[in-house]
Amino acid sequence: MTPLVHDRILSLAPTELPAYIYDLAALRAHAATVRDALPERVELYYAAKANPEPEILGALGPYVDGYEVSSGGELAHVAGAAPGRPLAFGGPGKTPDEVTAALELGVERFHVESEYELRMLAELARLVAPGRRVAVLPRVNLPVADGSLAGSALAMGGRPTPFGMDPVRAEPVIRQLADGTYPQLELRGIHAHLASGLEAAEQVAVAETVVSWATGLGVGLAEVNVGGGMHVDYGAPERRFDWKSYGTGLARLLERHPTLTLRIEPGRALTAYCGWYATEVLDVKHSHGEEFAVVRGGTHHLRTPATKGHDQPCSVLPVDDWPHPWPRPGAEGGRVTLAGQLCTPKDVLAREVPAAGLRAGDRVAFALAGAYAWNISHHDFLMHPRPGFHFLGTAE
Ligand SMILES: Cc1ncc(COP(=O)(O)O)c(C=O)c1O
Repeated sequence: MTPLVHDRILSLAPTELPAYIYDLAALRAHAATVRDALPERVELYYAAKANPEPEILGALGPYVDGYEVSSGGELAHVAGAAPGRPLAFGGPGKTPDEVTAALELGVERFHVESEYELRMLAELARLVAPGRRVAVLPRVNLPVADGSLAGSALAMGGRPTPFGMDPVRAEPVIRQLADGTYPQLELRGIHAHLASGLEAAEQVAVAETVVSWATGLGVGLAEVNVGGGMHVDYGAPERRFDWKSYGTGLARLLERHPTLTLRIEPGRALTAYCGWYATEVLDVKHSHGEEFAVVRGGTHHLRTPATKGHDQPCSVLPVDDWPHPWPRPGAEGGRVTLAGQLCTPKDVLAREVPAAGLRAGDRVAFALAGAYAWNISHHDFLMHPRPGFHFLGTAE
């Protein structure tokens, strides 16, 4: 935990908890490291779905080339929070209203998910943006070499999914775009996001597969977007995706394609590390031989461990003060399961955490809560108060 975050957690009153605390200085330093590891001809877009808080988008601004948005809502939000920055509009099931709004906003790139969407975009581009050529990147659901996605937490490519087009369907679409069937659309390149949770070597293998398929088509392509999905290890919160070896692998790939620009669009691996969900232990209980601490808040604020089926990494910050006249409950054994305030056994943030001596009133900080955390959670279930939000390290 960064000193800024540690001090803020201890300075908050119990009623100011739970709270999301973001260290924007740490985020900027991390983003700079990522940017430095990538070759010049790799554009870095941030997948806003991971965490679209305006402060997060702003802090990333100097280090990214643009933002990937996946809905009309994200489009309007990111265009407002990061005005003038390039946007790539992706995601399945785009509605005509969303496509129209994107055209009116002058979105730089469309990631086209299906033949239907391409025809809709072509027609709307003719009506809404006459005289302009709209850049498109068909999204392809490519099979990847056996075993190269073995470690992937969430494979989206190479098997039946609602995402992108099968290569046999994408190819005629790409050829139509290349031969001018849709004069209002410009074939800018290919988009693929095939999996989440891949290590650097696996990501390089995916990039090789996508680039080799795309360039093998023999049509002029300026860009290939190889997606996001860089691994974040919730079991080892200090570990980082190996951006250096990923950058080296991409540089080797680019040497063989001297006119190509590669684009990546990570979300989780950029912002997961800058956020903490901090809370207070309300009660410590014994149940059928195990110990449970119930904390303020829970998975309705931090759904990540429930969706990914992991224990959210955490640290205990002991608090000596006990302001109440009634006795303070505490753990008697060495391991405690940290649960939230919801009336469901699924409301568990971390199981059997080593927390000898944990007492009510102590604070717990859950790490790696900067991505797919608050914004994917079911906030209104049980109508508990919302957490506070603190953005630290804002001075440049
Ligand atoms: C098309 C696309 N791009 C990028 C991302 C970001 O993935 P991650 O946050 O795992 O890097 C996603 C996540 O679902 C996605 O669907």
